[in-house]
Amino acid sequence: SAAEKGGYDYFMLKEIAEQPQAIADTLLGRLSERGDIVLDEVRLTDQDLRDVDKVFIVACGTSYHAGMVAKYAIEHWVRIPCEVELASEFRYRDPILDRSTLMIVISQSGETMDTLMALRHAKEQKARVLAICNTNGSTIPRESDAVLYTHGGPEIAVASTKAFVTQLVACYLIGLHLAQIRGVMYADEVAAVVSRLRRTPDNLRELLTRMEDVRELARDLKTASTILFIGRHVGFPVALEGALKLKELAYMHAEGFAAGELKHGPIALIDKGTPVVCVVPSPAGRGVLRDKVVSNIQEVRARGARTIVIAEEGDDEVAAYADHLILVPRTPTLLAPLMTAVPLQILACEIAAARGHDVDQPRNLAKSVTVE
Ligand code: AGP
Repeated sequence: SAAEKGGYDYFMLKEIAEQPQAIADTLLGRLSERGDIVLDEVRLTDQDLRDVDKVFIVACGTSYHAGMVAKYAIEHWVRIPCEVELASEFRYRDPILDRSTLMIVISQSGETMDTLMALRHAKEQKARVLAICNTNGSTIPRESDAVLYTHGGPEIAVASTKAFVTQLVACYLIGLHLAQIRGVMYADEVAAVVSRLRRTPDNLRELLTRMEDVRELARDLKTASTILFIGRHVGFPVALEGALKLKELAYMHAEGFAAGELKHGPIALIDKGTPVVCVVPSPAGRGVLRDKVVSNIQEVRARGARTIVIAEEGDDEVAAYADHLILVPRTPTLLAPLMTAVPLQILACEIAAARGHDVDQPRNLAKSVTVE
């Protein structure tokens, strides 16, 4: 009913709007006054976590995209090798796991069969399993050694939105926690990231107030035959996520690419007017990365693409290469997906609605996929 949807046309729009609160709730109680990270529900001892020499992150769909972002954060902060893999592929390739492997499984529902099977396989190999899950008491956290619950609240729409951003937060917390107890980050470095994380709910609230342009753009793009998404570093999983949302909701062809891979093939797809959504990294810190994406934007534009550019506020230079510019609040590079993924959720939702689809219940899909 309309009341259940809180006045929104779709659960998905309600859940998109709930994201700032969902992030705040997931951070709540996990941070001490000093900005230290407290993960009480993690039943692995600090010593267990110090012994870890390799991390595997395993998940499906949107949760897998959160895991891809986590890999960048964990390797950068913790300095231990981290692999991320689709659950449906994981156990069939005989992965190398042992007692000092930390396997992180990510699942909103906690019931995804592919992920559960990967978890069981890892446990048989004696790996320690830590679940990130949004559903209390579901199978995946029950079978794991430890769980960090995301406090996103029930997610009704088939397309995952608030679960995704809370999974990112959980991954950041785990990364910082590992870095802290292993002594690879100083307390003040951790505290600096934490204080930026604490600001993201307000940043996102502000971003959500100015999405009218994205809605207009959606009406414009609803007849496109394909939409391409490009990004680098953590912008790459965001590009994949943007494309997945569009496929599942709008039933349109969409692809996400690592921007640097364009010249190795996909650039041949660009035709006059092909919409390309470009996720631009922050110019601060790793300016090199941003400049590389900007040249990728110029390359697709030179071949006729219509560019939809998602960039950080204050990055005035990118405007010159954007047919449509979406600015997001300034955020440190690793945390940026908390901002950049959101306009893509809205874009997919609005395109699907404009095409007359049932946004909350897309065809052929179920909220929780309990078959392998
Ligand atoms: C996301 O929009 C999808 N509906 C889907 O990819 C989902 O993320 C995937 O099935 C994993 O679900 P889980 O997080 O409940 O395990």
